[in-house]
Amino acid sequence: MIGLVATLLLSQNSLQTDFRVTPYLLAPHNQSITITWFSHSNQPGTLTVANQKFTTRPTKTSILDYHSIEEAERSKFPDMATGTPYKHQVIVKNLTPNTTQRYTVTQGKSTYSASFRTAPKADSATPIRIVAIADCETEPDGRNIYREWSTGTQHPDSTGRPADQKNYLVTETQGFIENLKFIRQSKPNLIMLAGDIVQGGGYQRAWDEFFFHTAGKFDDILGSTPLIPAIGNWENFGARVGGYEPWAVKLARDKYASYFDAPANNVREYKNFYHRQDYGPVTIITLDSSNGLPDNTDNDTNKNINESTYPGNNLTDLNPGSAQWNWCMDQLKEARSKGQIILVQFHHIPYSSGGHSLPTSLPDSSGQSGLAMRAYTPYFQKYGVSAIICGHNESFERSQLGDIQIYDVGVAGDGLGSSISDRDPRRLNPWRKWVAHVDSTELWRGSQLIDGGKHYGHLEIDIIPSPTEATLTFTPVYSFPVTNEQGKVTKFERRVYNDQVTVNHPRPKKPLEIKTPGT
Ligand SMILES: [Fe+2]
Repeated sequence: MIGLVATLLLSQNSLQTDFRVTPYLLAPHNQSITITWFSHSNQPGTLTVANQKFTTRPTKTSILDYHSIEEAERSKFPDMATGTPYKHQVIVKNLTPNTTQRYTVTQGKSTYSASFRTAPKADSATPIRIVAIADCETEPDGRNIYREWSTGTQHPDSTGRPADQKNYLVTETQGFIENLKFIRQSKPNLIMLAGDIVQGGGYQRAWDEFFFHTAGKFDDILGSTPLIPAIGNWENFGARVGGYEPWAVKLARDKYASYFDAPANNVREYKNFYHRQDYGPVTIITLDSSNGLPDNTDNDTNKNINESTYPGNNLTDLNPGSAQWNWCMDQLKEARSKGQIILVQFHHIPYSSGGHSLPTSLPDSSGQSGLAMRAYTPYFQKYGVSAIICGHNESFERSQLGDIQIYDVGVAGDGLGSSISDRDPRRLNPWRKWVAHVDSTELWRGSQLIDGGKHYGHLEIDIIPSPTEATLTFTPVYSFPVTNEQGKVTKFERRVYNDQVTVNHPRPKKPLEIKTPGT
């Protein structure tokens, strides 16, 4: 594994020494896109794209400094950078819709070139592919962590999981690297990332690691594929930098907001935490499910965060009547009035059979239940949302409520969670249609896994629009570690789980009549 990482480092980025984070793409629209990068020095950079040339005014970004706890451990983490990073950002406008744009960024003596495709117009029939992931939860230690891997349902012809195979076959880091390779090969128009991006939003090395994977030495997929992210509970947590101390929660949120600029919403302080982004005929509404009021009730999604102790003004409530709720209702209504295809993403999955699904008030609750987000369901139905994309339980799970597909795609490259027992009366998800560790049976022959089982992966969403309806195909993909007879991993293959779903959704320009409202 270490050899693999070193090879990638040398082959891809040996000339990128002036970049702390290579260019990455946000806010993809049909005429504009946001290009961001970080440098070590305060020297302006230049961007050339579509016959336009920009010179940046770098912003010293002290919020991304290492905490003194991290500095004290520097000798054990040779990848730590030095000095405060400088942020460069250009919002490129006046682009031609649905075209490929080559761009070049020069920073000091380093040059980075890549290309991206602008979104089509809203009335376009151009097919769109979106990839959804969640819960990559990067950190340097992931290079050596083989996650617990509970035994799934066995195929009738399986010889059974070897007794000593209790942990996954590759590290978290390699799992995420291989998953991203398959995502890159599928050439998506954009990536949705439904939270739990880093193993501690206040932990700077965890952010470094995320960008090593996506705009740095392991891979640079975000240089050519735009990202639409959502904040997860880990981006509200300092981890080894202060845990859930209120200052650490604010530090974590502030780091998140400094990396991921998004279009404005209705409250200046809440910008970047919830947002709407229209990619041609597709509207993606991203919510901040971090905290619900009153705190520590079943309306809350995190017992460790309290509004009364939070030392800032950017902690959003999610519940009815909140600024976020009101904004979301307005966006749903407006998007429906235009006949848009609507996807929603947020982190805390409301319909799941994983451990985070128990109500906050139950004694065995994790205190981080997504049940409060069910308040939105009747409105998601009313305004014709096609899918809800979440993470949190680290399952690969699909539920269906009415016409809405609901996914936990939290298997990007960290945990490989399993569900509460189907016999447990507290498992509040009768809407479950498919979950990887139950429905993708493991087929073992001795020490060799032949097929199936729960792995790192992602969801492909293929959308074919027409003026009156849209065809959406949801394809759950897994990165299968091919093993030899001794059980050693020899390569990876892209495989598709046995739950590909295709639906046709109408595109009316008014709210829908709902016969069986959700809960
Ligand atoms: Fe989570």
